[in-house]
Amino acid sequence: MPSSVAMKKAVIEGLKGIVGEERMSTKTADLYVYGFDASIHHKTPDVVVRPLNTHEVSEIVKLANMTRTPVIPRGAGTAMCGHTVPLKGGIIMDLTGMNKIKAIRVEDLYCVVEPGVVYDKLNAELGKKGFWFPTTPGSGEACTIGGMVVTNASGMRAIKYGATRDYVLGLEVVLPNGDIIHTGTRTLKNSSGYQLDRLMVGSEGTLGIVTEVTLKLAFKPRASAMTLAAFNSLADAGRCVSSIIARPLMPSAIEIMDSVCIKAVNKCMNVGLPDVEAICMIEVDGHPTAVDDELKIVEEIARQCGAVTTEASKDKKRIDYWTYARKAIMPSLSRYGEKFVSVALADDMSVPISTIPEAVVAFQKIAERNGVIIGTYGHSADGNLHTKMLVEPGSDDSWRRGEKAVGEIYDKVLELGGTVTGEHGVSITKAPYMKKERADSIAAMRAIKKALDPKNIMNPGKMFDWEGNIIAHLRYPAFTGTGGCMPPSEPGKDEH
Ligand code: MLT
Ligand code: ZN
Repeated sequence: MPSSVAMKKAVIEGLKGIVGEERMSTKTADLYVYGFDASIHHKTPDVVVRPLNTHEVSEIVKLANMTRTPVIPRGAGTAMCGHTVPLKGGIIMDLTGMNKIKAIRVEDLYCVVEPGVVYDKLNAELGKKGFWFPTTPGSGEACTIGGMVVTNASGMRAIKYGATRDYVLGLEVVLPNGDIIHTGTRTLKNSSGYQLDRLMVGSEGTLGIVTEVTLKLAFKPRASAMTLAAFNSLADAGRCVSSIIARPLMPSAIEIMDSVCIKAVNKCMNVGLPDVEAICMIEVDGHPTAVDDELKIVEEIARQCGAVTTEASKDKKRIDYWTYARKAIMPSLSRYGEKFVSVALADDMSVPISTIPEAVVAFQKIAERNGVIIGTYGHSADGNLHTKMLVEPGSDDSWRRGEKAVGEIYDKVLELGGTVTGEHGVSITKAPYMKKERADSIAAMRAIKKALDPKNIMNPGKMFDWEGNIIAHLRYPAFTGTGGCMPPSEPGKDEH
């Protein structure tokens, strides 16, 4: 936000003129709440505004540009790395009111939606016509299509169905100067110049604001089934994944869970998963006859790789139950031990599929070496692993050990030829490691940013612009380390 009081007032008045008083807020409680997303970070904005159409978005951005005010676009706030945390204050632009499905054209294989449409709601509509947008993010009940586009989000089915970028045919974008542009097309093919829609995918709100999305549709599979394979060794479970792919057999998902995750969901959700070192939930889908054949092959491979038990099911309720257990990992880890919270630090790396056994075993060793608890799970079919770390939120030492473990994990990931983020994006939490991974491209990224946003108003301070470490602007008030969120401690209650 501009530093002078008069200018701040002018911005607030300008916003009132664009959206009216009822669709903006400067109330302390609203600002506090809008300072969070699903990451470890928090920072309070100056104002929240809720536009309902592209024209309003454009007018707001023009005002921000004129006054050099930061603008942070926000969907459901499910981002896990600080994407919607307003590092430099300014305007949080809540796009959830732009939630219309404008067209579903199954005969042309596309749909057109506003950015605030929720993933599951879109699929409920597409499902009625036998189609879907199959990327399956874990936060599908809440996350919005706009957020998915700007993070290139995906989930458990990316091995077979790809990520969001594979479905974006075209975008409407408000650029940092307020201009409205249309990228891509509504056709399935397009060789018409720079693929600017591809540039916007994964841009994390730093290059403009997506106000409309044209998505390619996929056909819903006629049948699906799942095998739950239990292993006494995490490395065996990892080997099972690449053996299935190499067969060749294309699963629609393989979710892996280590013993920390299994214990956590069994304890917190009482789901009764086998109490073993590792589990693979292997999903296949397609024609019913093919599904039957593939289930048999999957079971055979799992046994060959050392599975101690396998259970296959075509029953939707059973599959939903296992999926529920898998989705319960993140909240369950937070209740694993009383003094811990589960945090997304080294969060969603991807490695080449055949290196999963080496990666998961290395993560366990890193956890032991640094005295931290790490739960490893994820979409192993495409090499995408989650490592949630349990830290004591009030202990500097615990955060520091966690941070050291993160560095070691990412060194291993890069050594294996992987990436520090497969599906959640960079923002703050991944920034230092993304810069390491992409060292030779940072200058090109900066040049693009400067060309499109010379005043640096769009979601400033993120990605290559982030200069600090990852334990910064924390949402946990007890932490006292550098860069953290540090209100004075209550007299007599300081535990450090
Ligand atoms: C998921 O896989 O459920 C999401 O990516 C969130 C996560 O667990 O990190
Ligand atoms: Zn995930």
